[in-house]
Amino acid sequence: MADRVLVKQRNWVYILLHWIIVSVLAILAFTGLYIHRPFFTMGTEADPVMVMSWIRWTHFICAAILIESVLIRLELAFFSHFDADWRDIGPSRKMLKALPEALSFYLFARNDHRYWRKLNPVKSVILVPLELLFYLIAILTGFAMFEGTFFWRTTDTVVLFGWVYDLFGGQQSTRNWHYYLFWIFLMIGVIHVYLNILRTARQRDMTFRSMLSGWRLVPRKYAPIKGASQRKKRE
Ligand code: HEM
Ligand code: HEM
Repeated sequence: MADRVLVKQRNWVYILLHWIIVSVLAILAFTGLYIHRPFFTMGTEADPVMVMSWIRWTHFICAAILIESVLIRLELAFFSHFDADWRDIGPSRKMLKALPEALSFYLFARNDHRYWRKLNPVKSVILVPLELLFYLIAILTGFAMFEGTFFWRTTDTVVLFGWVYDLFGGQQSTRNWHYYLFWIFLMIGVIHVYLNILRTARQRDMTFRSMLSGWRLVPRKYAPIKGASQRKKRE
């Protein structure tokens, strides 16, 4: 393997935002499944615990955290001063050009590929746009079903999001679409983790660890000079 160096590639803000998004998605999936079909009760008949209201409350709080985290991550991807990385995590022209090669790499038709600073092109060109589309569907169908007010009763989701029912073909199919999110995000997560494990195993570049520590092994010629701390790792 080419001469590689250890480079700090991910800022702690990006690492934190990733794991916040993953955690709230997991809680949204769990509480959503419970709302869909309650699978446990608590307390006694004489003194029941209002499990469903706690579950719904947790679902809505996590929904708010998900929306804010995704918006902050998008803003930083385009406008941050420390690492505006949308070209390395989104469907940029650079990533579109690299997609066919990446597909053959992940289909074991080739062993090498051009340098990917962050995400692999399969994730950034296919999965990331899908994630953003399903975040939008989650928000629209979720707020339509919410049927309540917030911001001190200044906003009413029925007024703001009532049209979503027409778009998705009525109340029940809107709820069904929202329910499918559980399986969709599960599939996206599984494919994403599989691609990360494969990249880490085949390239031995610490891709997995890069989302925990921020450090990754990169070919020396791509290692940033200015400000980057480099510890030489001789292969
Ligand atoms: C991000 C914004 C989201 C909002 C505003 C939201 C809101 C809601 C609301 C209002 C309900 C109906 C609650 C009820 O019937 O009492 C609901 C149910 C549900 N949510 Fe979400 N949710 C969001 C994201 C998600 C995500 C990302 C998932 C999956 C990973 C999810 C999975 C579910 C499921 C499975 C149900 C039950 C649907 C059913 O009754 O079959 N939600 N959500
Ligand atoms: C459905 C849930 C998930 C979503 C939507 C998601 C989304 C993302 C996004 C957008 C990135 C690029 C962001 C950045 O570089 O800052 C990323 C990178 C990464 N994620 Fe996730 N993720 C999910 C679940 C997971 C899980 C469960 C793991 C591990 C157990 C994981 C491990 C990683 C790793 C290692 C990277 C770095 C990949 C690279 O640089 O090539 N992700 N993820």
